[in-house]
Amino acid sequence: MSGVRFLLSSTVKATAPPPIPLAYQWAASYVRTPERPLIDLSQGVPGISPPDTLLEAIGKTSSSPAACGYGPMNGEAPMRLALVNEMKSVYGEDADIKPQDVALTSGCNMAFIAAVMSVASAGDEVILPVPWYFNHQMSLTMLGIGVVPLYTHSTRGFRPNVSECASLITSKTRAIALVTPNNPTGAVYPPELIKAFAELAYSKNVALIVDETYRDLIVEGQPHDLFHSSLGDGTWRSTLIHLFSFSKSYCLPGHRLGAMVADSSVLQQTNTVLDCLQICPPRPIQLALHPLMPTLRPFVQSTSAAIASRHRLFHRVLPQSWSIKSQGGFFAFVRHPFPGTSSEIVSKILATRYGVVTLPGTFFAPTAGDKKTDWSDAEECVRFSVANVTDEQVIQLGLRLAEVEEELSTVLSSGCTE
Ligand SMILES: Cc1ncc(COP(=O)(O)O)c(C=O)c1O
Repeated sequence: MSGVRFLLSSTVKATAPPPIPLAYQWAASYVRTPERPLIDLSQGVPGISPPDTLLEAIGKTSSSPAACGYGPMNGEAPMRLALVNEMKSVYGEDADIKPQDVALTSGCNMAFIAAVMSVASAGDEVILPVPWYFNHQMSLTMLGIGVVPLYTHSTRGFRPNVSECASLITSKTRAIALVTPNNPTGAVYPPELIKAFAELAYSKNVALIVDETYRDLIVEGQPHDLFHSSLGDGTWRSTLIHLFSFSKSYCLPGHRLGAMVADSSVLQQTNTVLDCLQICPPRPIQLALHPLMPTLRPFVQSTSAAIASRHRLFHRVLPQSWSIKSQGGFFAFVRHPFPGTSSEIVSKILATRYGVVTLPGTFFAPTAGDKKTDWSDAEECVRFSVANVTDEQVIQLGLRLAEVEEELSTVLSSGCTE
């Protein structure tokens, strides 16, 4: 007899399996040629490496015996200070942020888990705008925390509505979790909207978690002014938990470094969580990165400018029948031209037949059983991560999508989607 003789976790069983491997499975069956290579716009991955100065520094710190031991559970003090200084360059010099407000984590996914474990227990609820970043929904489900969907719509630029959110708050609500610039839609929430959510969270005594993994991709203006304005009779510390990732703007996803910024009473709880989950965040990357942070600003800015220009190119080369519903950060969320066909079928065919790997909107939404019947954006939209590829690949993408239309209509009408 095969298989284990013990039960597996019911909360993990209740969690959807990681969706990205399915997209790579589709990609694996594409027959690539030198003339028609795969164009991978699926997982949000920076298309370039970090600067040589950083790579060399990582080489040195990785081979240093000094980096082999455990470090502080909330990160190296100089790295926390370097992040604070960087945040002042992003949010304004008057931003009220101190190194003791920061905990460094093994990536931003870990920061999200640490944040929700710090504020919520099994049976509590967290409100997530839909479409959601699937790892947020999966993490909450695994922890037994209820996920309350706050539907957003293409017609409103996928911006969540504050009064709709207010109507979802109950005695079980512990947090509202926003992502801006958003994954998957790319929508950038205006500072006034983020402020309105902070005021709502403040008035209802719940936390506002804002995952700003893609904040450096905002090329004009500050992401929001919460760090230097008052909130109720206090500061952002009463309500906000800010999350950040070094994976995207510093092109370091494999080195696993993220951050959580919150009031010290929250971080005290978070330290307990982090001591168990990570003991300490990876040390070689922190030791390499902190002295270089100020010198990397031009790299971060030029990468962001290049991605913004790639978004414009994407807009120009996209065949007219595909309609961009929202765009920003790493992503474009695009309505496909096959009404009545699920985005999952469209993404699958794009990958297997055309070598264009995307993620369907359905990966970012509740499954059919618990979905609102009038919420069709997930079925109609496909996410393209335009940050992954070069301008030349975006041009090739435009040509392939132009081919797709006629052929795909025939394939879909024949019912053959294998
Ligand atoms: C919104 C958001 N948060 C967090 C992450 C993960 O970041 P990290 O690599 O730092 O764990 C991603 C990655 O795609 C993301 O899109």
